[in-house]
Amino acid sequence: METPLANSTPADSRSGAITYGLLGAVLVVSAIFAVSSGFYADWYAIFKAVHVMFAVVWVGGGTLLTLFAILAERSNDPAQIAGVARQAAFVGEKVFAPAGLVVFLMGIAMMVNTDWGWGKFWIVAGLVGYASTFITGIAVLSPLGKKIHHSVQEKGPLHPETMAMIKRIMLIARFDVAVLLLVVADMVTKPFS
Ligand code: HEM
Repeated sequence: METPLANSTPADSRSGAITYGLLGAVLVVSAIFAVSSGFYADWYAIFKAVHVMFAVVWVGGGTLLTLFAILAERSNDPAQIAGVARQAAFVGEKVFAPAGLVVFLMGIAMMVNTDWGWGKFWIVAGLVGYASTFITGIAVLSPLGKKIHHSVQEKGPLHPETMAMIKRIMLIARFDVAVLLLVVADMVTKPFS
């Protein structure tokens, strides 16, 4: 199938180079900030900076998509709803899943470089929140996303059955984002500790 990416132009590759350049610059400057912070051991600060940056991308992106999904639903325009669902499927797999993995790995890396201890409420809540979103992704969102893809191919994006599944996945994704926002509140406030 012809995709917009297949027709990339020199302007597209310039835009891509700028994006990757900016990303590299952000990572390098953040690493310099982290090692010069003076408050923590260097590695802890780097792990924490990466952990929070990827969490921002993941949770912020999920929240924005949720808002777009709500707007699309309110518009009652099946084409708009199908468009948001297509974009959500793309970023879910290519951006949120890897970003979530980095957040998790950096969280673990911090834990082995510190003496917070695994028994604290906010750590357990973070692990439970991560596990819940991981399981929701693997057991619910991903298979439902595939079903939607097949339904779009066979019946079309605007078929009532496809639409019903799209609305269901958007609703589940909304709960998933709510869990992520709670984990952010938990990590920042570190309750009961
Ligand atoms: C849903 C996934 C997660 C999100 C969205 C998230 C988000 C955040 C945020 C925003 C902070 C900054 C808090 C602050 O500096 O006040 C943070 C810190 C931290 N997170 Fe997570 N986190 C997640 C999962 C985890 C997991 C699974 C672990 C470890 C088991 C973990 C361990 C930590 C640690 C050790 C800190 C640093 C605390 C500090 O030095 O003050 N996080 N996290």
